[in-house]
Amino acid sequence: MKMYLMTPGPTPVAPETQLAMAQPIIHHRSPQFMEIMGEVREGLKYLFQTEQEVLVFTATGTGAMEGAVTNTLSAGDTALVIDGGKFGERWTELCNVYGVKVERLAVEWGHAADPKAVAKMLDANPAIKAVFVQANETSTAVMHPVQELAAVTKARPGTILVVDAISALGGTPLPMDEWGIDVLVAGSQKAMMLPPGLAFAALSPKAWEFVKQSTLPKYYFDFAKALKSQGKNQTPYTSPVSLILGLKEVLAKVKKLGLEKIYAHNRRLSKAAKAAMQAMGLALYSRDYPSDVLTAVLAPEGVDGQKVVSELRKKGIWIAGGQAEAKGKIFRIAHMGFIDTVDLLGTIGGLEEVLNQLGYRVEPGSGLKAAQEALSEEALA
Ligand SMILES: Cc1ncc(COP(=O)(O)O)c(C=O)c1O
Repeated sequence: MKMYLMTPGPTPVAPETQLAMAQPIIHHRSPQFMEIMGEVREGLKYLFQTEQEVLVFTATGTGAMEGAVTNTLSAGDTALVIDGGKFGERWTELCNVYGVKVERLAVEWGHAADPKAVAKMLDANPAIKAVFVQANETSTAVMHPVQELAAVTKARPGTILVVDAISALGGTPLPMDEWGIDVLVAGSQKAMMLPPGLAFAALSPKAWEFVKQSTLPKYYFDFAKALKSQGKNQTPYTSPVSLILGLKEVLAKVKKLGLEKIYAHNRRLSKAAKAAMQAMGLALYSRDYPSDVLTAVLAPEGVDGQKVVSELRKKGIWIAGGQAEAKGKIFRIAHMGFIDTVDLLGTIGGLEEVLNQLGYRVEPGSGLKAAQEALSEEALA
């Protein structure tokens, strides 16, 4: 049976990327590797839309999140965490581990942060050195308004904006330099169309000044050490050679296609997914700024969201359920990276069947029709 990975990470990897990663291992200190790393560094700057170095770590995204805390702050510093879901919580947990005081802006799940509320908190406490947020809060499928948040922190020389774009980067616009994002963190296994195992972090000149002041302990995720090494087309420790070969292939493809085309593809799939849910009488879980890279749906009355997930798995279709307080209440369908219209239409068709099986009446084809109409509208636009 085929496995359709429609989860918000990991996502499918294209055959040409798999082939690139199947090449023989070369030594990470060889001239061949350094040449590849040079190309990767350039490609990453395009993807992140930055002039700054994009640091590459062998880790999942959380490694770069941890590094973002330990490289910019010191024990006793205060940070503002925008907490609107499972991954917002992670920023608080990381700060707690390292003795960074947290002022928490609790955002109801399914909603986005209000930049005015953030500005108010920063005005009330000028000691806040960093604002931590998710570009796309994957647990609720809400996009926080990063551009507006960056406008708030840009005006405050003593505060940086740290954005977890682990599920957003490469899927939805996040021009780091143009918007004024100070630390942008990403991971390989979502919109970046690679297997899990790479974490990325790019820092603005303002954030690099914070690095100079930071005294929190760091060793593996030492950003200054990584920067120095990458300047020589190296990584401080053994490089993940196969993943870098895959990354080179992906970045070349991204450059050739152009970011706008990729974002438009995801938006088109997103519109189709959302139209399908509406046609099936289902409501979105995301109340503000529903994400372009995944759709979170409230399970209908009397239907367990986890059951929708497990029944679809029997058909080979892997979507995600809800996390923590949303567990059982929702299900989430990804449409990012190497996911196409056929994958999405197959998933919607499977969902219609499963919902009927679980006692929620859906006219067969109703979701599919709405999705197809949305797709053709966008294709003509
Ligand atoms: C927004 C966000 N942040 C952080 C993470 C954690 O990333 P990782 O599992 O790669 O460490 C995820 C993974 O789902 C995510 O979606």
